[in-house]
Amino acid sequence: MPHANEPTFDAAAFGEQHITKGIGRLTKHVFEDGKGSYITTDKGVKLLDMTSGIGVCNLGHCHPKVSEAAAKQCMKITHAQVNIGFSAAQIALLRELIPILPHPSLDTVFLWNSGAEAVEAAVKLARAATKKQNIIVMQGSYHGRTCATAAMTRSKTIYGEGHGPLMPGIFATAFPFYAQFGLPADTPIDKLVEMSLFQLKLTLSQQTAPSDTAAIILEPVLGEGGYVPAPPAFLHGLRKICDEHGILLICDEVQSGFGRTGTMFAVEDSGVKPDVLIFAKGIANGFPLSGIASTNEIMSRQKPGTMGGTYAGNAVACAAAKAVIEVFREEKVLDNVAARSKQLFGFLNNLKNSGSKAGNLIQDVRGRGLMVGVQFQDADIIAQSQNEAARKKGGAGQIAPKVVQECVKRDMLLLSTSVFDVLRFIPPLTISEAEMQEACRIFGESLEAVAKEL
Ligand SMILES: Cc1ncc(COP(=O)(O)O)c(C=O)c1O
Repeated sequence: MPHANEPTFDAAAFGEQHITKGIGRLTKHVFEDGKGSYITTDKGVKLLDMTSGIGVCNLGHCHPKVSEAAAKQCMKITHAQVNIGFSAAQIALLRELIPILPHPSLDTVFLWNSGAEAVEAAVKLARAATKKQNIIVMQGSYHGRTCATAAMTRSKTIYGEGHGPLMPGIFATAFPFYAQFGLPADTPIDKLVEMSLFQLKLTLSQQTAPSDTAAIILEPVLGEGGYVPAPPAFLHGLRKICDEHGILLICDEVQSGFGRTGTMFAVEDSGVKPDVLIFAKGIANGFPLSGIASTNEIMSRQKPGTMGGTYAGNAVACAAAKAVIEVFREEKVLDNVAARSKQLFGFLNNLKNSGSKAGNLIQDVRGRGLMVGVQFQDADIIAQSQNEAARKKGGAGQIAPKVVQECVKRDMLLLSTSVFDVLRFIPPLTISEAEMQEACRIFGESLEAVAKEL
């Protein structure tokens, strides 16, 4: 593309004409090829990818071992339908997956395709298992864009706006993130945890009674809401409240899972046991696969036939996922996450403390592993989308989307996130030291270019 016989064909223009306007897009590039940390466009532009396709290609694009496993499976059986029989590819995957889940009690799994589907599966399970209906989500959460998950998403109104009525029975409570309380970045974590747990108690006494509440769901690192790790004390507090009231604790690790935060799952760090774990994205490095894990006892409370789906746990995606787990082991991927995380945090913190005009724009550098957020000083402007954020407001506009566009000009893909002024780094976990250095250089130059214009 363009083809020899149609040299003037413009794929981006075709896409703009024929793909739904409902999709927001960071760039107009047409991605044709991806290897490791780079994507190449139809025009031959090589882009350094600090998005990993939104936290999916954790092992880099087209990891040879993963692609080979998928290709082999394609020649064996592609569709081993799970409501008709067992899938050998799925069972082979589960034998590798179950031992690496964050708690030995999470030994029973349901596989689906997308993250949002898996969130819906968790909601169905929680309702069936507790015989209660309501779900408590976190302020700032992101769980997807389907009618149920858009109702559960509280990072931006855009995902549900104009599409109601969404699923009822959802209540939001506070997450320990200073910006959500309008407090300064140096507010002590203990204080934020205390305030958030207090708000949860209020939610349970003013909005949804414990006897009506099936589950509390959270992302152990708030993703779309601003890349904010949940402090361990908050997770322990949630666990205690759930235990007191017979409420299930669901961890949505769709974005934070599969090595992203330096452990296979982010919740591991706290030692808290979720009742239900949700995973997707990185599990199959680009093949659509998601799922939930819970205890055998909880999973047995659903009647046969209530779960399933034509493509649930597709055989090709399962073969890819099994290869992903092998690569994590063989290539010691988590060691690289630790080293590259140190490198990235080192660079960002040095820049923040440098006293330069660009560095002074940075308010906060946070995250874990290679799930790293940078928040800028501008607390006033709350945006619904990249485009709105980039628009001038009060003569300024948010900094993050401008930096993103400067990065794109320099052939690097980077995303902003949340209604606050935040950028997120989600590079492949296999990124090399030299590639990370290049990413830091491009980011530094881009921030400087934005600072000059302010
Ligand atoms: C934490 C979290 N949950 C759920 C989803 C939805 O996943 P999907 O886009 O695969 O439906 C996402 C997607 O970004 C996510 O980050």
